[in-house]
Amino acid sequence: MPETLHLAATSDGIAQAAALLRAGGLVAMPTETVYGLAADARDDRAVARIYAAKNRPAFNPLIVHLPDLASAERIARLSPEARALAASFWPGPLTMVLPLRPEAGLSPLVTAGLDTVAIRLPAHPVARDLLRAAGIPLAAPSANPSGRVSPTRAEHVLAGLSGRIEAVLDGGACAVGVESTILGLDGPPALLRPGGVPVEAIEAVLGAPLALPGDPALPKAPGQLASHYAPEARLRLNATGARADEVLVGFGPVTGALTLSAQGDLLEAAANLFHLLREADALAGPGGAIAFAPVPETGLGLAINDRLRRAAAPRP
Ligand code: TXA
Ligand code: MG
Repeated sequence: MPETLHLAATSDGIAQAAALLRAGGLVAMPTETVYGLAADARDDRAVARIYAAKNRPAFNPLIVHLPDLASAERIARLSPEARALAASFWPGPLTMVLPLRPEAGLSPLVTAGLDTVAIRLPAHPVARDLLRAAGIPLAAPSANPSGRVSPTRAEHVLAGLSGRIEAVLDGGACAVGVESTILGLDGPPALLRPGGVPVEAIEAVLGAPLALPGDPALPKAPGQLASHYAPEARLRLNATGARADEVLVGFGPVTGALTLSAQGDLLEAAANLFHLLREADALAGPGGAIAFAPVPETGLGLAINDRLRRAAAPRP
């Protein structure tokens, strides 16, 4: 494959990216959460290329990105609860797993053969322009090799996937910084992955508590592997100081060589998380270690701690 194009998010760049996607190409696009590796969700070959470029296990289904609610209604069946959540949080960092309409025309590789589909309307203006210009549903997992740290800048995408994809559309740094919250809505509303929309905000709209991961009555998101987001270095959590060989990443009162947020601001910490994991990894060097200061389990802290626990989990 020719070298991966680094496209500016101008109207020309967006038009070029849309043309590549319509021709079955792979284009990394900015979203407000992380960069996504997009392909035409109706095209088996294009979707298969996503799995190959990322080395992603084929049983792990993909999120379909759409420009508007009307397209979502054409692909999935939305319950009244799903519509209320859409009205509050779309476009934005919420993914809903909904019953798939068999006539939707999606490649079965997108849903990994399930009868549900994960849908999201991204809020990033460049993603929205690209979706409108391409005029097709875009399947897009995070644009990183499977199991590694998710990308929040175009340079992160190129570091992991250069030469394996047609282009990256550069929309700068992602504002949210952690992936979308995933809700299962094919039964009682259930949290499948904490993310950019805090659980508290979702429960406020539903007027009822969500079923949480670990509830044995619930299906699991197939992609929720224990080890994920893995840096090269070993990782220790809830550290209040650095050991001799560690790069400490601070938060609030815990000061490190790097910090998620000196003010203890969870929004800032989420936006910085994946970039700092990469920076700490580079500073730690071969055989090195990283330590993270404790982050509270509220609001976006739930998503941050989820990603950190996976990054620290024993590797397969
Ligand atoms: O913020 C995000 O969600 C980013 C941006 C690019 O939109 N995307 C993202 O995709 O994080 P990915 O592929 O890294 O994670 C998608 C998750 C996986 O854990 C997958 O198993 C789950 O969504 N998923 C997809 N379809 C599903 C389905 N039908 N049922 C249950 N889980 C599903
Ligand atoms: Mg991912």
